[in-house]
Amino acid sequence: MKKILPLLLMLLCLTIALAEDTAIDYTSDFSEGTDGWYARSAGGAEVSVTAEKGLLITGRTATWNSPGRDFDLVCGKTYALSVLVKQDETASTGFILSIAHTANGTESYENLAKCTAKQGEWTLMQCTYVAGQYDRNVLYVEGGAADTSYQIKDFCIYEQTQAYGKPGIPSLKEVYADKFDFGTAVVANEVLDSDRMDFYKSQFGIFTYGNEMKPDALLDVGASMKAVRATGDETQVCVKFDRCKPLLDWAQKNGVKVHGHTLVWHSQTPSAFFREGYSSKNPLVSREVMLARMESYIRQVLEWTNENYPGVIVSWDVVNEAAADSGRKLRDSLWTQVVGQDFVNRAFEYARKYAAEGTKLYYNDYNSEISMKALVTRDIVDSLIADGTIDGYGFQSHYTAGQTNLFYVQVAMKEMAKRTLQDGTPIRLRISELDVGIPSNTQDNWQTQARFYNELFQLYGQYADQIEAVHTWGTVDSLSWRADSYPLLFDSMCQPKPAFFAIVD
Ligand code: XIL
Repeated sequence: MKKILPLLLMLLCLTIALAEDTAIDYTSDFSEGTDGWYARSAGGAEVSVTAEKGLLITGRTATWNSPGRDFDLVCGKTYALSVLVKQDETASTGFILSIAHTANGTESYENLAKCTAKQGEWTLMQCTYVAGQYDRNVLYVEGGAADTSYQIKDFCIYEQTQAYGKPGIPSLKEVYADKFDFGTAVVANEVLDSDRMDFYKSQFGIFTYGNEMKPDALLDVGASMKAVRATGDETQVCVKFDRCKPLLDWAQKNGVKVHGHTLVWHSQTPSAFFREGYSSKNPLVSREVMLARMESYIRQVLEWTNENYPGVIVSWDVVNEAAADSGRKLRDSLWTQVVGQDFVNRAFEYARKYAAEGTKLYYNDYNSEISMKALVTRDIVDSLIADGTIDGYGFQSHYTAGQTNLFYVQVAMKEMAKRTLQDGTPIRLRISELDVGIPSNTQDNWQTQARFYNELFQLYGQYADQIEAVHTWGTVDSLSWRADSYPLLFDSMCQPKPAFFAIVD
């Protein structure tokens, strides 16, 4: 027994140590003080506990001054977060629940949830967050003018140790295997959660990054600026690929396809890209310089992905959202201002020149079921067919049940599907960013949403020969860009919703 005792003690210590290391499950308790919360401020702002057991921030002098607290979040783990906020100063004020994370000494920020708090009313904010690879994570609540005060309470964070999916549910990609690829889009941190990705892989055969392959992710403005300064050559373009590597690595390792989104867009593109010396204060460059920059950017992105991930990226959205929302014309943007009306054609020309053989090139847009926009998107596609540079059209498909008229969706698809490419084959179609919003998370709305998804997929079935892929824009509601409208096939706990069963049964 004497010999076993130390062993038992060691075992006990190890168990305690492991238990201490278990998942976060924290609710703020201000009954005995500020509970590790502090004022994020350069001095002046303070936090204190109020009679109603809230945490009050006072003495703010900047909008970023806010109550914050450090949390040990584990990379790739999913956390459920909620907090109540109250202000007494104005009729209503917007608040944001955010995270400040630090990696290699650099702090960066993400907004996780928003709310509007009416005067004197405790208002709830909640969300799901997948933690990234950081050395420090500070969660904080900010809002209101710089000199105002507010309170938070019942801040709650716990690790979601949910099962991904439900045992035995059908697989979307298998159900539709003989019709089209079934895909999804991911936010950066989802890729870090390997259990989640294993589940996604069982459901989806093609993946898109929600943000990490857009120009603001790939264009290296700082390096481009230096290159122009060093050489005096305004056509220099530097790119960086750190943000898009995780999904590409995962896809390559798992033999999964990727759809690239997006090479040329008016949004999420630094305005410095269009300006002399890459300085947002400088005048716009000439058309010639901008075309050279566009070609260089497209060439470098396509060459790098082809060299490092051959065969992984099977298709690209070459240009996104060039059509105006009203009027039969292109949207006014820095692209039209600097390059002119043929910027879409030039982008496709360069993409075709540098894309690996067989890569499908798409023009992608939203609301193309709405009359005037339907005409513009078809004009764009027709001119690209005449150039011989396009393979397909992507219907973004951000819909709202009860608002979107399926008849118009049907007409838009029928009209687009009629188009023939120069080689005589019908144009390829893609449902690139499908989500169907509902006003609130109720059983009734879930059923309405399920019927809408079901009708959509009946329509897609009719065009299965031409549709290359259907991608939902995300997998779980809480990580959707439209989280407030619960638009996807899985709920925040990764459980299938009626909409899922409505398209697999
Ligand atoms: C959205 C992303 O999902 C968000 O995370 C981001 O904040 C804004 O962009 N049409 C598109 C997509 O083509 O790139 C957009 O993605 C959604 C609308």
